[in-house]
Amino acid sequence: MRLVFLGPPGAGKGTQARILAERFGGRQISTGDILRDNRRRQTELGHQAEGYMQRGDLVPDDLIVKMIEIELENCTNFIMDGFPRTVPQAEALDKLLKEKHLALDAAVLFAADPQVLVARLTSRWTNPRTGRTYNTITDPPHVAGVDDADGGPLIQRDDDKPETVIRRLQVYEAQTKPLVAYYRSSGRFVEVDALQPVDAVTQQILKLAASRQPQAAS
Ligand code: AP5
Repeated sequence: MRLVFLGPPGAGKGTQARILAERFGGRQISTGDILRDNRRRQTELGHQAEGYMQRGDLVPDDLIVKMIEIELENCTNFIMDGFPRTVPQAEALDKLLKEKHLALDAAVLFAADPQVLVARLTSRWTNPRTGRTYNTITDPPHVAGVDDADGGPLIQRDDDKPETVIRRLQVYEAQTKPLVAYYRSSGRFVEVDALQPVDAVTQQILKLAASRQPQAAS
């Protein structure tokens, strides 16, 4: 399975990528998680990305595309969550896949009302060790602030403050939404209603992705 997930912040891309990768194999490639990991480890990439992420802006395309080249070195099945985010990133991905004689099965848009997303993100808590997310309204952990699986602390992301969430939504509208037209014109586009319950979204993605025939790489 080779999927890319598009959609505004908080639409559930990470939640679904984790479920599908666990259930069907393939690697979840989350550019946001990779960048946050680099920030925690204080790498050069982490330092370069930090200011952009704190403001809610996109990290420059060249840094992101280099990251993806490394991720795809030994990977043929993947779910990309948070990449591509701009048309140049999508073009770079197409070029990389073509060189590897691979093709995308589908680009999945998570459609959702921005008002709901602000509420979802400001009530999100994350396990920084595994990326597992909770939601204090819809999916709380058994004990507040503690991960059910590993018993370690949960954190709130520094870009989930209401003012940064609003900035991220604006950036999505301006820079990522044009990808809808890019993928729609390629015939690889499907759209899911991201406001349904988690299980219903998973089922809809599977149904739509299965209805897409993989394109032959030329
Ligand atoms: P990134 O980490 O990718 O953030 P994002 O795209 O803004 O997406 P989120 O992780 O906030 O949301 P999500 O859609 O994954 O939702 P989730 O499943 O967690 O990027 C962060 C930053 O890194 C960017 O701002 C940028 O600076 C940089 N960056 C990353 N990639 C980049 C790129 N390619 N180019 C340039 N810069 C890049 O769910 C959210 C909440 O809702 C959770 O609490 C969850 O439990 C809950 N939830 C999920 N689904 C449902 C549902 N169906 N019903 C009810 N609740 C639900």
